[in-house]
Amino acid sequence: MCNDNKRAKLESYILENGEISPGIFKMVVASNRMESIAKAGQFVNLYCREGSRLLPRPISICEIDKENNTLTFVYGVVGKGTEEFSKIKAGEYIELLGPLGNGYNIDEEIDEHIIVGGGLGVPPLLELIKHLKGRKKVYLGFRSDSYLIEDFEKHGVQVLIATDDGSEGIKGTVLDLLKKDKARGKMVYACGPKPMLKAVADWAKDEKILAQLSLEERMGCGIGTCVGCVVRIKDGDTWDYKKVCVDGPVFFSEEVVWDV
Ligand SMILES: Cc1cc2nc3c(=O)[nH]c(=O)nc-3n(C[C@H](O)[C@H](O)[C@H](O)COP(=O)(O)OP(=O)(O)OC[C@H]3O[C@@H](n4cnc5c(N)ncnc54)[C@H](O)[C@@H]3O)c2cc1C
Ligand code: FES
Repeated sequence: MCNDNKRAKLESYILENGEISPGIFKMVVASNRMESIAKAGQFVNLYCREGSRLLPRPISICEIDKENNTLTFVYGVVGKGTEEFSKIKAGEYIELLGPLGNGYNIDEEIDEHIIVGGGLGVPPLLELIKHLKGRKKVYLGFRSDSYLIEDFEKHGVQVLIATDDGSEGIKGTVLDLLKKDKARGKMVYACGPKPMLKAVADWAKDEKILAQLSLEERMGCGIGTCVGCVVRIKDGDTWDYKKVCVDGPVFFSEEVVWDV
């Protein structure tokens, strides 16, 4: 997977920041050329202004707009940091460091793609689908309210939905959806909670389809110094610790040693 060391910490002007679904916010920032090197599946560290919240919050790049020089993030309010972000108004500034991590591996030879997202793992898949050539189908799982569906559909892809409460799409998990639809393709790209990723990895193995998983591990520094984000990755007959923030967040599923 590609890993580009060019990155910058910037004060970025916020063009838009608002709620798009209950508890889910979309922030568009002037990216000061960060968009020129950013890739689908990479993330950016967003910094809080409140001094007690020193650690940055890693948020995936949801859309890269090279024409208008903007980046879009879509984030759920889950704690103090994301709550602070949700209150920032358009016209204010936010400190960002990025782009970080490796991003998805895009092989031009592959022409059948299965894209799988769950909960707060959905945003990076929107930029990804723009770069995949050939047949692509998107499978998304939510607790209840979905988001970004029309944004995916704008790119001409079919989106199938599963919700825990059955309020949209089928009642069940995204794995139920993959099985019900008899999903087929040559590469799976997934992002979401770890138990979902493990289930998708097992399914892809049974179906003999390669899978790339974005592990949204809990992070500290986000730049490789604190060792707070390590996962076990296979290395021949043994395994080694890898940092999700610099070696990932995207890994091929057969490399991952699961601890869930
Ligand atoms: C590579 C990557 C990409 C991500 N992309 C998105 C995205 O596009 N949209 C989105 O809504 N969320 C995303 N997340 C999760 C997001 O980083 C957390 O929800 C956020 O950091 C929570 O911060 P908080 O202060 O609101 O919560 P708190 O629980 O108060 O956070 C406390 C500390 O734990 C860290 N933390 C808590 N949850 C997570 C988590 N799941 N992952 C990493 N660190 C965490 C925080 O950064 C903070 O330092 C991503 C996580 C990673 C690792
Ligand atoms: S989050 Fe600090 S090393 Fe990865």
